[in-house]
Amino acid sequence: MENQEYQCSLSSVIGLVKNNLFKITTQRLVLKRPDKTFNKSVFASLVGDWDIAKWLSDVPFPYTEKHAEKFIKRSSPDDLRFSVFYDEILVGGVGVSFEEHNQLDLGYWIAKDYWGNGFATEASEGLIDYVKNETEFKAITACYVKGNNASAKVLKKLGFIEIGECEEYFLSRKETVSCVDLILNLD
Ligand SMILES: CC(C)(COP(=O)(O)OP(=O)(O)OC[C@H]1O[C@@H](n2cnc3c(N)ncnc32)[C@H](O)[C@@H]1OP(=O)(O)O)[C@@H](O)C(=O)NCCC(=O)NCCS
Repeated sequence: MENQEYQCSLSSVIGLVKNNLFKITTQRLVLKRPDKTFNKSVFASLVGDWDIAKWLSDVPFPYTEKHAEKFIKRSSPDDLRFSVFYDEILVGGVGVSFEEHNQLDLGYWIAKDYWGNGFATEASEGLIDYVKNETEFKAITACYVKGNNASAKVLKKLGFIEIGECEEYFLSRKETVSCVDLILNLD
């Protein structure tokens, strides 16, 4: 019953967010759902950079425009995925996907030219605030590959705490790697 309540809650939010006019605005960034106006070739070249793809579990490598097209079409009702814009320029992506045990799992990437400006932290904060204020989810999980120190830092700044370790298959690397599991309580 509790599960159903959570799922209902997420569905109603997704209903809202599916409207392409929906935006989350932070101090410097705008988070928008990718739509058909989206520049697939720019997206593919940014995510397809090995320094980004290697840290993301669900990104094939090499990453092509076809993959970008699929990503845009694959608007799962269980995901809240956004593109991140700074000054109307695509600078990254942030999202939460619905996982087992009624958990939302946070993921993000920022284009290399924009690293170190606090964008991953700010975009994630915008999405987390949205989940906190508009849904009944009580926690968000996250996971990073051991050695991804920049991501570890972002998650720490967001208030996530380590809860364990896991092994996860990475499409980009075509292998299973050791990861650190974290959780952020929203209460
Ligand atoms: C991880 C990533 C999203 C960070 O984006 P960002 O916009 O640069 O992040 P922020 O600026 O908000 O914060 C990064 C923090 O990590 C620190 N940092 C960066 N590289 C680091 C490194 N190699 N070791 C330790 N800390 C590092 C920065 O100094 C900053 O901390 P500070 O604010 O205390 O100075 C970006 O590097 C990226 O896209 N990486 C590839 C994809 C990825 O790893 N996604 C996450 C998967 S779990």
